[in-house]
Amino acid sequence: MTVRHFLTLHDLSAEELLSLIQRAIELKRIRKEGLLHEPLRGRVLGMIFEKSSTRTRVSFEAGMIQLGGGAIFLSPRDSQLGRGEPIEDTARVLSRMVDAVMIRTFGHDILERFAAVSSVPIINGLSDQFHPCQLLADIQTYFEHRGDIRGRTVVWVGDGNNMCNSYINAAERFDFQLRIACPEGYDPDAGLLARHGDRAQIIRDPMQAAEGADLVVTDVWASMGQEEEQKRREQAFAGYCVTPEMMARAADDAIFMHCLPAHRGEEVAAEVIDGPQSVVWDEAENRLHAQKALLEFLMLGASTGE
Ligand code: CP
Ligand code: NVA
Repeated sequence: MTVRHFLTLHDLSAEELLSLIQRAIELKRIRKEGLLHEPLRGRVLGMIFEKSSTRTRVSFEAGMIQLGGGAIFLSPRDSQLGRGEPIEDTARVLSRMVDAVMIRTFGHDILERFAAVSSVPIINGLSDQFHPCQLLADIQTYFEHRGDIRGRTVVWVGDGNNMCNSYINAAERFDFQLRIACPEGYDPDAGLLARHGDRAQIIRDPMQAAEGADLVVTDVWASMGQEEEQKRREQAFAGYCVTPEMMARAADDAIFMHCLPAHRGEEVAAEVIDGPQSVVWDEAENRLHAQKALLEFLMLGASTGE
């Protein structure tokens, strides 16, 4: 069997992604009913974190334990990666000891190099370019609150960052329209946008972009690794805060998402993220269920029925 990786949403077909979302909803039900479901007994996930994390680490680690397996946390500080051992050598060694590896890193090429020599599945736990695991949770959350996202309109407000790039991929895979409201100079990946121009377009004015939207999404203005740009970005993104006025321009039953962590008063007003249209806590919880579905898919070959 050829090994499958999950570096971007494009590593799975639209059909596979849809069945993964359904499986995530099913796994959530199984857990809420208190049923034991341990198809990954004896399996181990290696987790390499070169950047900070709360949700990604806890959801993968808890998910592996709930599925009957275990997870090992590695950071550059306490592994040989931090002392210059080549990525490829690390990948070859870990492949022989664990059943899958999740990596949170900077350049997306690090994930690609790792995957190129790995004999076990590699999962992107966030790179500078993409954050596909978050999209699984976001799409699951939309399905649970509003049904199929196909044909809906999503507005991305803020930085054209890793989350925004993954939203472009999601627009293609899940068949929705994406409006991107970002200031000039902070656009998402140009190649990606060009390839998916039928599904994703830039509309600079966030109020105009929000008009009639079914889902409003934002993220921090300065991502991990861009901390020194915070002040400059605060100026560039003035006017890109998701406010109650912006939500009022969206559809009456629009919902709000944010991958978290959030900065209230910067990219989103407290009244919005803590208000009735916000589904951010369900969204965060769904990281657990969506990634359990992903782990089953990658480690067992396909979603398994209960
Ligand atoms: N949304 C997300 O990936 O959160 P963490 O950085 O806490 O993992
Ligand atoms: N764009 C953010 C997402 C954090 C989950 C970052 O990369 O820091």
